[in-house]
Amino acid sequence: MKLVLASKNAKKLKEMNEILSGMGVEVCLQADAGVDVDVEETGSTFEENSLLKARAVMEASGLAAIADDSGLCVDALNGAPGVFSARYGGEGLDDAGRYRLLLSNMPRGQARTAKFVSAIACCFPNGDVLTARGECPGTIAFAPMGEGGFGYDPVFFLPKLKKTFAQLSPEEKNAISHRGLALQAFQAELEKYLNR
Ligand code: IMP
Repeated sequence: MKLVLASKNAKKLKEMNEILSGMGVEVCLQADAGVDVDVEETGSTFEENSLLKARAVMEASGLAAIADDSGLCVDALNGAPGVFSARYGGEGLDDAGRYRLLLSNMPRGQARTAKFVSAIACCFPNGDVLTARGECPGTIAFAPMGEGGFGYDPVFFLPKLKKTFAQLSPEEKNAISHRGLALQAFQAELEKYLNR
């Protein structure tokens, strides 16, 4: 089965395929399905945004489409950057610029607890919708560590492992990450759906 990913992020595609290929599902980028849509993420929750993206790409491609909306929620920042994680600090910043800004915005002397959240939506041309959610708790490191992953990975610290996401192998990250957990939950939903 083929699913079109409502994203231009090749690293997200890789993480999805690493998990879903085990059940015979192949995910491709929207560009590979001949679709070029830029969906405005106007929702106030990860769930709303993932549904907006999956529905738009399903409608444009005529194929089943999957979307992940994800982000980092920091307790001391009242849940920010949250659904604005990709746009934190405005258009001009790259990944490193965004995590540096986050580090500089962390209030001193407060708990540094945070969580990554991923909401997945999959829209089928017949109108059916599957959803799943995953969360990964951690803390915000005092300085970036590690070279792997993307986005805020170098500053997202896992106290039990004493490493940031960026210091994990892809397999280690997938086993515990918000997206990995959401994809596992999605996989279970998809199996139920296909065998109904
Ligand atoms: P989305 O593409 O709208 O879901 O944007 C999610 C944003 O959240 C990304 O651009 C990253 O900044 C951040 N993010 C989501 N998942 C991860 C992750 O696994 N590691 C690091 N940053 C992430």
